[in-house]
Amino acid sequence: PTVVVLLGGPSAEREVSLSSGHACAAALRERNYNVVEVDAGRDLCAILTEIKPDVVLNCLHGRWGEDGCVQGLLEWMGIPYSHSGVLASALAMDKQRSKDVYRAHGLPVVDSKICSKADVMAAHVMAPPYVVKPNSEGSSVGVYLVAEENNGPPQLDASMPDYVMVETYVPGRELTTTVLGDRALTVTDILTTGWYDYDAKYKVGGSRHVVPADIPAEIFELCMDYALRAHKALGCRGVSRTDFRWDEARGAAGLFLLETNTQPGMTATSLSPEQAQAGGMAFPDLCAWMVEDASC
Ligand code: DAL
Ligand code: MG
Repeated sequence: PTVVVLLGGPSAEREVSLSSGHACAAALRERNYNVVEVDAGRDLCAILTEIKPDVVLNCLHGRWGEDGCVQGLLEWMGIPYSHSGVLASALAMDKQRSKDVYRAHGLPVVDSKICSKADVMAAHVMAPPYVVKPNSEGSSVGVYLVAEENNGPPQLDASMPDYVMVETYVPGRELTTTVLGDRALTVTDILTTGWYDYDAKYKVGGSRHVVPADIPAEIFELCMDYALRAHKALGCRGVSRTDFRWDEARGAAGLFLLETNTQPGMTATSLSPEQAQAGGMAFPDLCAWMVEDASC
């Protein structure tokens, strides 16, 4: 079958997507798929009409590619595609609205609100420590940690959207769990010396992943349970990855869902391929699984 690997695109996570897409394309070629890499632009519809792929492996991240837009186009064209559909993609991309869904399903999240950029810069809009981030971006693009009262409100970069999400900061550890279809894979503990920002995520050696995480069995099982429930609550399909913060000092009550990524990174340093590998599923097998799981 002919597989179009969608990559690049115009979002802030373009570079990450190019890495994800190239890696997946190479892995699929190893498995003898006929692969065409397509950098997603405004002419996407015309390109797909010409290639007539049997399936699309969506390796886009962020706006347009992860938020239901490209999924809608593929539905419209009747081309089976990997990962989540329109509604789950749109919901998961909106951090604030996905929290409403988590809450309705009894999943633990921390307080957050949407504020104007002007308000955030004028005075503390909640008691520090808190985090300010775009409501709909990934890869820690534009994430600010306001650790202390004395530092004053954060001065946000001009590239930040007019409205941002402000969220209580949970000290402690960053944990993550991938769901593949109907099962949670494992838990990774992400160790960084400082803040888990863009560089820590994508520079080799920028963070250390401990998989399976060396945490109490109770917390491990909660992550597995919460990730699967989050995947189902949002209506996700295929692969998703749910990120957590865990305040060890508070035990099980200190575990909170941050967000579910419907297009988790597929780069050499990415978490989901590593979790699949830890369970014995090699990267080309994961890519083949995503292609075979595609639908519309
Ligand atoms: N947004 C990046 C790609 C991730 O969550 O893996
Ligand atoms: Mg994310």
